[in-house]
Amino acid sequence: MTEIKEKQRTADVCIVGGAGHVGLPLALALANKGQRVIAYDINKKSLETIGQGKMPFIEYGAEPILRDVLNKTLFLSSEISDIATCKYVVITVGTPVDEYLNPKLRNLLEFITNLQAHLDTEQTIIIRSTVYPRTCRQLKQVLDKKGGEWHIAYCPERIAQGYAIEELGKLPQIVSGLSEQAVADSTKLFSLIAPSVIRLDIEEAELAKLFSNAWRYIQFATANQFYMIAETLGTDFSKVRRAMVEGYGRAASLPGAGFAAGPCLLKDTMQLAAFNSNSFMLGHSAMMVNEGLPSFLVEQLQKRYDLSTITVGILGMAFKANIDDTRDSLSYKLGKILRFHGATVQYSDEFAKDPTFITKEALVSSCDVVIVGVPHSAYKTLTVPEKLDVVDVWNVLPKGTKK
Ligand SMILES: NC(=O)c1ccc[n+]([C@@H]2O[C@H](COP(=O)([O-])OP(=O)(O)OC[C@H]3O[C@@H](n4cnc5c(N)ncnc54)[C@H](O)[C@@H]3O)[C@@H](O)[C@H]2O)c1
Repeated sequence: MTEIKEKQRTADVCIVGGAGHVGLPLALALANKGQRVIAYDINKKSLETIGQGKMPFIEYGAEPILRDVLNKTLFLSSEISDIATCKYVVITVGTPVDEYLNPKLRNLLEFITNLQAHLDTEQTIIIRSTVYPRTCRQLKQVLDKKGGEWHIAYCPERIAQGYAIEELGKLPQIVSGLSEQAVADSTKLFSLIAPSVIRLDIEEAELAKLFSNAWRYIQFATANQFYMIAETLGTDFSKVRRAMVEGYGRAASLPGAGFAAGPCLLKDTMQLAAFNSNSFMLGHSAMMVNEGLPSFLVEQLQKRYDLSTITVGILGMAFKANIDDTRDSLSYKLGKILRFHGATVQYSDEFAKDPTFITKEALVSSCDVVIVGVPHSAYKTLTVPEKLDVVDVWNVLPKGTKK
């Protein structure tokens, strides 16, 4: 059996979800180290873009590597049977939560069951998506049921989206597995790109990833709660924060205020809460605070305006600065609340494309109020008309323009 399977191997690594934000940079990093990588994905449109040497989303430093490795060590596929040709199978598909705040665990278990016909027990299957605690053990049980000893590793991704190419080479890689082979193989693979490897048991690794995201989310919530208190008092939170952190290391980790959005932080805090029988007070509070910031901003505006008489511009629609990804961006939630209260709303973004968006210059010249949704660097030098009412939670616009 081993011999037959080994003969079928024509590549080293298959990244399942290889056109995604986690999968593609990893595929590039490994292909750049000489591994023969198949980026397998069901998104044919993205694969087509990648096949033309172009990234389907902003990932700094990725395109030159893509052009170097494409069709040399990086191969694109939407053919599921190609998974069988690789020694390593890395799973990087999305792991969303449902409308009741529970992880869609069954999706992932069914997904693995569907892949099983193309997997074999000589492969090492590396889960890289962020998962609900004990998911990896359950995945192994699902596979083991069909017979044989399967090798499952969990090696979570910890990069900041948009900066994966740089960070994959800098961040220590957490490695865990449910067999010695899984641990040894994934250590060998990630040692090609990561400066060091941190060994954990599998549930420890699952928690390390979820705790990291929940921790960041709670930190942002702290800043946002402080912002709301400062605003209620009529003070400038950015000034208060600057004074707190300047030369005072104990407060240095307090982030600035701003929308804590995107497809990971809220979702992973929810997963932890669901795992802990919905008893994760800090996490739940963080969700209320971060998700409540758009409503707070609208309420503040309502103290000054009848919203049905004004046009509000939202400057920045991506979920964070300097990328083009609008997944779970709070700017859209802000827009919806404003519209609900009768405001006319205009959107603008530097990177995200939408035919209804207008330029930042048009936004600041045509709206009565502008709210900064995300602090893209280009906004630091934006000329804002003196009479414009600006709500700049991020404190990114040039001084003198902030309301
Ligand atoms: N985005 C980040 O910065 C980041 C960082 C760390 C961890 N994560 C985690 O990584 C996982 C993936 O996130 P992402 O942002 O890369 O998502 P994504 O949506 O950008 O990528 C997922 C990819 O999987 C593909 N896919 C979906 N179903 C498939 C199937 N049946 N077969 C093959 N391909 C399939 C999609 O087409 C997509 O290209 C999530 O668990 C997320 O929480 C994300």
